[in-house]
Amino acid sequence: MSGTDLIKGYPKYLRESIQNVEKTRERRLKESFELMSLDERDELLKTFHPDYRKEGKRQVKFGPNKGDLMPHEVVDILEAHPLVDPNTIDLSPVDFDVSILIIGGGGGGMTAALWALYSGVNAEDILIVQKLRLMDSNSVMSQGGIQAADKTNDSPTMHYLDIIGGGHFTNNPELVRTLVMDAPLIIKWHEELGVMYDRVADGTMSTLSGGGASRKRMHSARDYTGMEIVRNLKDEILNKNLPVLEFTSAVELIMDEYDQVAGAVLYDMETHRYHVVRAKLTILATGGFGRLHIQGFQTTNHYGATGDGVALACHVGAKLKDLDSVQYHPTGAAYPEQIVGLLVTEKVRNLGAQPVNRNGDQFVYPLEPRDVEASAIIRECYERNKGIETPTGMRGVWLDSPMIEIIHGEGTISKLLPAMYRQNIRFDIDMTKDPILVFPTLHFQNGGIEMINDKTETSVSGLLACGEVTGGVHGKNRLMGNSILEYSVYGRRAGIFAAKRAQKVKLGKLSLDHVGRYKEMLKETGVKTTKKAPILLPEYRGEGVLSRALNLL
Ligand code: FUM
Repeated sequence: MSGTDLIKGYPKYLRESIQNVEKTRERRLKESFELMSLDERDELLKTFHPDYRKEGKRQVKFGPNKGDLMPHEVVDILEAHPLVDPNTIDLSPVDFDVSILIIGGGGGGMTAALWALYSGVNAEDILIVQKLRLMDSNSVMSQGGIQAADKTNDSPTMHYLDIIGGGHFTNNPELVRTLVMDAPLIIKWHEELGVMYDRVADGTMSTLSGGGASRKRMHSARDYTGMEIVRNLKDEILNKNLPVLEFTSAVELIMDEYDQVAGAVLYDMETHRYHVVRAKLTILATGGFGRLHIQGFQTTNHYGATGDGVALACHVGAKLKDLDSVQYHPTGAAYPEQIVGLLVTEKVRNLGAQPVNRNGDQFVYPLEPRDVEASAIIRECYERNKGIETPTGMRGVWLDSPMIEIIHGEGTISKLLPAMYRQNIRFDIDMTKDPILVFPTLHFQNGGIEMINDKTETSVSGLLACGEVTGGVHGKNRLMGNSILEYSVYGRRAGIFAAKRAQKVKLGKLSLDHVGRYKEMLKETGVKTTKKAPILLPEYRGEGVLSRALNLL
């Protein structure tokens, strides 16, 4: 192959491995693979899940999270120099004076803005700030679906138990309770907005199961659920004339003399000018940190997912929670190079595709909880050495997608997984006929800014948070379908609570003194760094950035 040849399907040596998958398919279709026992899961996680690699973490040196273990990449942004020198920012005059400032224009931010409006706040008293375009976020990229217990064979209690078990009993029970109780009303609201969830012939909603779920409760719109929801949210935002500043980032939160968060300093990435926003309540909805590429992993995340919210919250002294825990989605694309790391939705396994090794043997039940499934794939590739090496030196396992067509009939993939089909056929890989190569990929920030109650309050007055940037709901492992649900339930609650609270808030003199105090702590504890945070956009130049988890070796 010459350097200019485009990828056309699989190279010959991969086709040879595919023959092994084909040979065992008939047998595998008849056999059933056992779920692991709790002890087996525990052992597997401790040995192979990247979260358990001690070398991947260190303790935070100062602040309310002092002593907490977190991935190096997260500590790096918590112990980085502020992006702007506070002495160069003039807090008067104020450029925008609003009741509610929402930082982040993904699913959580848009939901919060809409519910603040529905709760009586005037549109012009709300401001959404989004560092890319409105809706450019992880929310738009989510594929599989949203969980809600709204069928007669299910109940919020069962949903609750699944979440608590999946989270290894580390979740905040109050937050989980609210999540499952509000779930059905979120589906109803989405439908009223125009979201077209999949339905079966009698008109009732189609629901699927997800890893770790004891009932089929996942509502989806094919395999582009996030896009379908978020486009409806965006339409509603535009219809209601809610003010949005695009290509504008929050670079520092502002506090007032009463120690409450009172707005933010914004940076307009087009004009390179700073703006000052005074706000009675500030809602952080900045999403996750996939683009920090924890431990060298590829990611499913949006380009803007650089952990900005946790850095901003840390500067005002907010308590963080469970940031030692990262979700690696078991199935990220491992071939071809152009799509490495992108999500291969759990729905592919859900519909019957089995993970198999290079000999064509299945080695794990397809729908173990995510952390367990990912660990089993890592073990197969790096301990048992039965993975498949890609032309660029990455390892992966086969996901036997043609089984879906055999089990459910021809045409199922193009009907139920159109995005997946397109993602592969662009490279002449026909997943209806050939399996696809996968390896775990960084997918979700399980922890974040601690939400101290179901009103979305944080440990700092005036600062609310919702969605992936928060910690508490999922504990140390999130189950599929609960991230759209989380930003919807808590975005809504943030908007409602902010609307009510804003009526009572009196702001004092604005200040950035906390940034000075943060810089002092950096100096006193002897942190030596050249990094700055919030990062805003990832940097892909330089060596070693795309190391692809080779540390696992
Ligand atoms: O596999 C997926 O479609 C991912 C869903 C989720 O993270 O909730």
